[in-house]
Amino acid sequence: MSGGPPGSGKGTQSPIIKDEYCLCHLATGDMLRAAVAAKTPLGVKAKEAMDKGELVSDDLVIGIIDEAIKKPSCQKGFILDGFPRTVAQAEKLDEMLEKRGAKLDKVLNFKIDDAILEERITGRWIHPSSGRSYHSKFAPPKVPGVDDVTGEPLIQRKDDTAAVLKSRLEAFHQQTEPVIEYYTKGGLVVNLHAEKPPKEVTAEVQKSLSS
Ligand code: AP5
Ligand code: ZN
Ligand code: ZN
Repeated sequence: MSGGPPGSGKGTQSPIIKDEYCLCHLATGDMLRAAVAAKTPLGVKAKEAMDKGELVSDDLVIGIIDEAIKKPSCQKGFILDGFPRTVAQAEKLDEMLEKRGAKLDKVLNFKIDDAILEERITGRWIHPSSGRSYHSKFAPPKVPGVDDVTGEPLIQRKDDTAAVLKSRLEAFHQQTEPVIEYYTKGGLVVNLHAEKPPKEVTAEVQKSLSS
């Protein structure tokens, strides 16, 4: 699984790992945004917390992951992006994996200073249906505002403002950092230098997965 604060690069690196190892990319943020856009009952429940930069309830996200890891396409393995984000979610994940005779191989911790994140977050553009991320300065699309692969329009996330980022960081430090401690005890954590350029971070990820 990959963990780290908002803008640390989880969504940028996860699709690369996914393609290289033929895994499923399960990003709770992407799945929740799809539910909000489709106005499903789940989306309606999740929207308010997401708009404020607060975490959605454990029960909702655990339900999404429990459904997703049952899918035939995920049986070869999966990369979890942005889940678990609380110790309660981590404990529940252990139970779900144990039931299936599976276990986590690695926990990739995208370590980065908070001060770098505002520029990354406010310059981000995403392709909603695939979850692909771009950045106006650091990773620009070939044509501004247009997805390289599909030619479809890019959008900015509603929670990608400096003000909402403050709440997201607060949630990260208070509720998600303890999850790293939880996995450190199990010896699964690999710390990455997430402030480096994207290609260097990719190289660190590849190295940590091949060892
Ligand atoms: P989620 O979608 O998971 O958002 P997040 O954790 O805030 O993370 P981001 O997607 O903002 O960051 P990222 O690390 O993926 O960055 P990216 O690679 O795109 O969650 C959203 C919300 O959903 C939460 O606030 C919560 O409400 C809810 N939620 C989700 N999961 C939940 C859970 N388990 N429990 C409860 N609630 C949950 O990169 C950012 C930008 O920087 C991009 O523009 C990119 O191009 C650029 N960039 C990336 N890497 C580099 C680099 N190395 N150098 C320069 N620029 C870079
Ligand atoms: Zn992301
Ligand atoms: Zn902290």
